[in-house]
Amino acid sequence: MKTIVTGGAGFLGSHLCDLLLARDHEVICVDNLITGNERNISHIGSDRFKFIKHDISKPLYIKGKVDFIYHLASPASPIDYQEFPIQTLKVGALGTHNMLGLAKEKNARFFLASTSEIYGDPLVNPQPEEYWGNVNPIGPRGVYDEAKRFAEAITMAYNRYHRVDTRIIRIFNTYGPRMCPNDGRVVPNFIGQALRGEDITVYGDGSQTRSFCYVSDEVEGIYRLMMSDYTLPMNIGNPEEHTILEFAKIIVRITGTRSKIAFQNLPVDDPKQRRPDITKARNILGWEPKVSLEHGLKETIKYFKCMVE
Ligand SMILES: NC(=O)c1ccc[n+]([C@@H]2O[C@H](COP(=O)([O-])OP(=O)(O)OC[C@H]3O[C@@H](n4cnc5c(N)ncnc54)[C@H](O)[C@@H]3O)[C@@H](O)[C@H]2O)c1
Repeated sequence: MKTIVTGGAGFLGSHLCDLLLARDHEVICVDNLITGNERNISHIGSDRFKFIKHDISKPLYIKGKVDFIYHLASPASPIDYQEFPIQTLKVGALGTHNMLGLAKEKNARFFLASTSEIYGDPLVNPQPEEYWGNVNPIGPRGVYDEAKRFAEAITMAYNRYHRVDTRIIRIFNTYGPRMCPNDGRVVPNFIGQALRGEDITVYGDGSQTRSFCYVSDEVEGIYRLMMSDYTLPMNIGNPEEHTILEFAKIIVRITGTRSKIAFQNLPVDDPKQRRPDITKARNILGWEPKVSLEHGLKETIKYFKCMVE
């Protein structure tokens, strides 16, 4: 089974490459390293693995058959997509178009990594897949949210009009080892600050909620969705909801840091709540998260400690 993973040198993509290799796939990882790092795949010694450094917003030619394309390439953290707004829009639009074209040519099954961000600042909680979202198209987060909304639309168009076999996942906040320590996402942010003994910065009063899924659970959900027959978007994430303040306190407790919690202004368009409705994933894939927040955080803290040392 020849499988392409775009964004395979990133956080989620590298864990997906590990899982696919463990399940006997031949993996071609395509990444331009704009936010990823070769360090994330340097442990892979398999002769079924190949890395191609390439910007998929430009056409990609691959010889021979391809069975599956997992399209994960995109800056994903608010710091990254605000630093690379045009590249984010291009990879969501041109990159997705290129990968769908490749899937069509090769008769391969195509998988889009979409996001809970397509729900914007949601007016319903938890968010089912039927919810259309509340997105500000011209705000600072719009470059990412709208790129992913376009990516979903073109994926469904290729499915309906070109009969390409497609899957769409809406990933909710995922964390774990190999996250970039300074990408501004809440988990690396809080852990980094705690390990350095700095103030832990909570935006607003910390009452906004998030739900965090451990990476091994997320990639299992990705794989199961790809192997299923379900072609409409599906939420994969952890429905256990925590306020950001609660979450900061858990990290203080687990790391044993002396850091204090400091409050700062809420960024523009920061969603107030985020929690997936995973009824479809449970019923159709038999999937639900297994790793507890406590265990997942301990593993992640271990990784960040090694990076600091
Ligand atoms: N981690 C999460 O919590 C989360 C949540 C929702 C959605 N997602 C989606 O999952 C995917 C992976 O996210 P991640 O957290 O691993 O981020 P990441 O930044 O670690 O990985 C993204 C990878 O894509 C690569 N990339 C970006 N543009 C590219 C291009 N034009 N050509 C080739 N490679 C390119 C980057 O170099 C990087 O290696 C993204 O599509 C993201 O939108 C992630």
